[in-house]
Amino acid sequence: MALKGLKKDALKVILFGGKGGVGKTTCASSAGCFLAEDFKTLLFSIDPAHSLSDSLGQKIGDEIKEIKGVRNLSAFEINANKALSKFKLEHEEEIKKILDTSTYLDSEDIDSVFTLPIPGIDEVMGFNTIVDLIEEADFNKYVVDTAPTGHALRLLALPGLLDDWIKIMAKMRWKYRYMVTTFSGNYDPDEGDDFLFKMKKTVKKIGDLLKDKERCEFIAVTIPEDMAILETERLINGLNQYGIEVTQLVINNVLKSGDCEFCKQKKKEQKKHINHIKKKFGGLKTTIMPLQSRDVKGLDALHIFKELLCQ
Ligand SMILES: Nc1ncnc2c1ncn2[C@@H]1O[C@H](COP(=O)(O)OP(=O)(O)O)[C@@H](O)[C@H]1O
Ligand SMILES: [Mg+2]
Repeated sequence: MALKGLKKDALKVILFGGKGGVGKTTCASSAGCFLAEDFKTLLFSIDPAHSLSDSLGQKIGDEIKEIKGVRNLSAFEINANKALSKFKLEHEEEIKKILDTSTYLDSEDIDSVFTLPIPGIDEVMGFNTIVDLIEEADFNKYVVDTAPTGHALRLLALPGLLDDWIKIMAKMRWKYRYMVTTFSGNYDPDEGDDFLFKMKKTVKKIGDLLKDKERCEFIAVTIPEDMAILETERLINGLNQYGIEVTQLVINNVLKSGDCEFCKQKKKEQKKHINHIKKKFGGLKTTIMPLQSRDVKGLDALHIFKELLCQ
């Protein structure tokens, strides 16, 4: 059975996640090619170890680029550090204002606080780029190649962490506001307040999008091996905790042909794992992807893979 429902109009964002090396990038690139048949599609990677360029066989960077040879498909690889630098540059004054008016820090201390990392802000900026792109609505479908499980789950926890950070900042502001109101009678919200309000909205938008089953789908990718299955379980449970329900699972690298002793043994072993997966994740639709004799790289290989994965 192939992946279902990817071409539903309401579905805008499709994320592929799983252990390192199981085929996330390959599935994301193939799904991108499939969707581009009917929709203007953007494929992008939030894995710091980007590999879309290798998968598609053409150079992609941190600017949106049309893919040569696939009409309607563009791609890019998010550079979280760059997004963070841009964010800091844009918001330096506002953040410093909050610290200046809400704490007893002097300007030297404030400068050093500013250089400290805000927890998760770079990843959130990566997600923010996605949300901005979706709002700009230049594309109909967005396919996301995520980083291996641990990183992806941390990423999903970040809007929450950032939300806590915003709450603390807002609390400090309230004290300041109270003082100003007490002494001068009134308080006009300043750019610090605007900034916190805007950040709060961004974090909420990201959370809302990820949890919206109509607009967003997270597809787990695994292989029939013990370690990968354990990690898949961690991923699915972790996602559930953030209110994201996984309904489809790709089991990749399944050996289909070969009658030699090695192949027979391998097939037997894989069958055991596949049965185990089906039992463990009974409610999920599973798509079995055969192990290819060569790496799935370049558009020709992706087109073959796409037919099996999505038709
Ligand atoms: N079904 C398959 N058969 C053969 N090679 C595969 C298959 N799926 C993926 N590969 C290859 O395995 C390697 C890892 O796949 P990749 O998609 O980069 O994994 P991930 O993104 O999960 O780390 C790549 O070289 C890819 O071409
Ligand atoms: Mg990858």
